[in-house]
Amino acid sequence: MTQDETRSDSRRAPGISKTAIWVAAARAVGAREPDPNVRNPDHLAEELLGDPTKLDLEHPVVDALSSSYDEAMRDIEIAGFVRAMTERTRFIDEALERAIGAGATQVLIPGAGFDSHAYRFRELLASARVFEVDRPEMLDFKRSRVDAALGGPPANLTYVPIDVQKEDTSAVLARHGYDVSQRTFVIMEGLTMYVPEEALRALFRFVASHARGTSVVFDFATRAMVEGLKQIDLATLPPAARSGLERFLNLIKNEPWLFGFPVDGEKELLTELGLELRELLRIGSEESARRYLTRADGTTLGAEGHAKAEALRKAAQARIVEQASPEQRQKIEERMREQARHMAYRIAEAAVA
Ligand SMILES: C[S@@+](CC[C@H](N)C(=O)[O-])C[C@H]1O[C@@H](n2cnc3c(N)ncnc32)[C@H](O)[C@@H]1O
Repeated sequence: MTQDETRSDSRRAPGISKTAIWVAAARAVGAREPDPNVRNPDHLAEELLGDPTKLDLEHPVVDALSSSYDEAMRDIEIAGFVRAMTERTRFIDEALERAIGAGATQVLIPGAGFDSHAYRFRELLASARVFEVDRPEMLDFKRSRVDAALGGPPANLTYVPIDVQKEDTSAVLARHGYDVSQRTFVIMEGLTMYVPEEALRALFRFVASHARGTSVVFDFATRAMVEGLKQIDLATLPPAARSGLERFLNLIKNEPWLFGFPVDGEKELLTELGLELRELLRIGSEESARRYLTRADGTTLGAEGHAKAEALRKAAQARIVEQASPEQRQKIEERMREQARHMAYRIAEAAVA
């Protein structure tokens, strides 16, 4: 049987989020890093995904699971993605450990996908209850993988099938024994961009209705990124940028990005929803690389690929500036700086106000 035939077999299981496979695959590749200082701590991602040739996603990061780590990381698209997911996982893991240390007794994971916190942190979470929320088809598949790879879920974990866009999350959770009066840690990883604004606001308001001390981590795109994705004309892009972006647009064809935060307006939006911004970190920033991607010898994970990607981006910008008239140049450069500010992908922690 060819790889394509095997893959089309798995397509009989519709509803499994391709973006969930995509991010878990990047964690799985990052978990193969030999240096623990810069390794993705999600050592269960690979087992939870299972045989990569059976996954319903054709993407270099999935193919990377069938090649060596060093070879995979020579690809700048893969290396960049692995770096970003390592930053994200490390930020969330640290926040989880802090929250449980401070007395959280419940963990809620909307849009859980292949999230592995309940299984990786069994000991830390031994006296907490964990609720994984996702669409029914995704959770069914996840459960079958958990059974096959880990021999079943821990006793403190409850799977709650909910479409947060269509159902009242709080009512369904309550039917599963969820208790908003508990101090809770909420993980909304890779979720905010896939949920329409009203439903996302409702989800944040629900978080804000929990006991004091409750906190939430979430990563997010900006409004400009989401709008920009709708307007991209691939034909106008340089070939080096085109293929990766085309793959990304294809990936999110059935899971479109719907919501982006207003740039520099995160704090106000959260305040309006009853939450207080505690920490904000730009994924891919120097600060994030310093914290999560720095080896013991001071070098940075994937630095070469990152430098190459930056050089390509700058060369493309320089070409645009060169083609402009001298009077237009300053304006174009300003617009590019503004665009860069608007293209930031960030992760944050907020707490019940
Ligand atoms: C990019 S994946 C992230 C998965 C996981 N949190 C992670 O980071 O590995 C997005 C996840 O959100 C889930 N999701 C998206 N929209 C949803 C909705 N309306 N209701 C429930 N789950 C949703 C998808 O099924 C998918 O598992």
